[in-house]
Amino acid sequence: MEIIHVSAECYPIAKAGGLGDVVGALPKYQVKAGHIAKVVMPMYRTKFLYENEWTVDFKGSSNLGNWFFEYTVIKETTNKLGFDLFLIDINGLLDRQKVYGYDDDTERFTAFQIALVNWMSSWEHQPDIVHCHDHHTGLVPFMMQYCYDYNKLSHIPTVFTIHNAQYQGQMGWDKSRYIPRWDLWKRGMLEWADTINPLASAVKCAGKVTTVSHSYMDELRYNSNGMEKLFEYERGKCSGILNGIDNEVWDPATDKYLTEHFSVKTVSEGKQKNKESLCNQFGLDPAKPLFVFIGRLVGEKAAEILPDAIKSAIHHTQGEACFLVLGSGETQVEWAFQQMVEPYKGLFNTVIGYDETLSHRMYAGADFLLMPSRVEPCGLNQMYAMRYGTVPVVRSTGGLQDTVVDMGEPDGFGIRFNHASVSDVDYSIGRAVSVYKDKAHMKKMRQYMMQIDHSWESTVDQYTQLYQSLQ
Ligand code: ADP
Ligand code: GLC
Repeated sequence: MEIIHVSAECYPIAKAGGLGDVVGALPKYQVKAGHIAKVVMPMYRTKFLYENEWTVDFKGSSNLGNWFFEYTVIKETTNKLGFDLFLIDINGLLDRQKVYGYDDDTERFTAFQIALVNWMSSWEHQPDIVHCHDHHTGLVPFMMQYCYDYNKLSHIPTVFTIHNAQYQGQMGWDKSRYIPRWDLWKRGMLEWADTINPLASAVKCAGKVTTVSHSYMDELRYNSNGMEKLFEYERGKCSGILNGIDNEVWDPATDKYLTEHFSVKTVSEGKQKNKESLCNQFGLDPAKPLFVFIGRLVGEKAAEILPDAIKSAIHHTQGEACFLVLGSGETQVEWAFQQMVEPYKGLFNTVIGYDETLSHRMYAGADFLLMPSRVEPCGLNQMYAMRYGTVPVVRSTGGLQDTVVDMGEPDGFGIRFNHASVSDVDYSIGRAVSVYKDKAHMKKMRQYMMQIDHSWESTVDQYTQLYQSLQ
């Protein structure tokens, strides 16, 4: 089958979180399974752009309301990522350094989607599936079906994957003029709660809707930022497919970011060496259990409870644990972590920012990974942690609930708790510190986790079946 993935992120070109990882890996494994998979994304000004070779594939023009724009589609020439990669350039809109966070993000991503359908309608052949990811691409299924100029695309089946329903891309009705000549009778297919809602529109218009774990799919029906009724109504076409991880990028035996590699057999010594190098760099004691947090410092991740939870755990364990935090996000949370560095020297340290290399070293060197997430559609961090023999300490929600089994259960290897609260995190750290003393138990859990199969190879088939159901 020929599958066109449309996304705002794709690792290693541009990644703000797990969406980038998924769109950088799923197409690669679809190609390995015998499909033709292509990725189309905006052309940001990233390092990857400057370091690789490109050819111009197409030049076109369209309108965003009254604004006429020209766009260029470029293609990476060497198949470096294992799939065809196309970037759409729109001067003045997409050519920025960051993926998100600009005042005109609505215009940027709407124009990107218009350019995409405009370009696709010039193709002589039709792909078998257009697979869109998250709200930045949520208007594509609507435009393919109900914009007069793109009528040619109306028979191509679409799949929409929700990686995060917290963000929906709502815009006022005044912006409906951005959407190229469309069938006004279909207004309801754009609308949710009196606004144009790209996420809701995609749920209504796409042939199938998926999200990235079974539990999150269930949660959306009672907690999805106001879209609960829609998920209930559309439940017949919605399903959960758990994300995989790219075992080639995330392999402790070959990881290019690590200096000390290890495997299931050498996990205890291998992790200890990685831990020593991390602890040396951050002034922590490698003899104590090392807890890490890696992620966006936002409410969804319950990052704001961590400063107090860590302080409380340091107090309760009498300084018997060390902590290292990597992340960026809300200023107050960043500030709270920075304020802890001096008073808790030797026990706590933090890097505020985004650092791919350090994140790999932390998965490899840590004993425990903290994830108190309030909302976690899938969560890749815990799966990376497991692959690197790091015990996940997670709140029972979404994908965390589907991938982590508490060590109190048969074949358990992680720690689960129910509330995103200081006391639950503190208590769970206490459980972790106790089990850390039992070296044999730790080794058994590590070896067990490392062998769990979260590979994309075993997940790709589920998407194939879904696509086939639409042919
Ligand atoms: P989300 O997409 O909600 O942020 P995921 O668990 O799906 O959460 O994926 C997060 C991805 O982003 C992981 O690959 C993680 O290692 C990475 N990541 C998050 N924050 C940082 C950071 N500050 N530095 C490096 N990598 C990070
Ligand atoms: C989102 C979710 C995260 C998920 C990722 C990839 O960013 O917050 O839980 O793992 O997308 O699907």
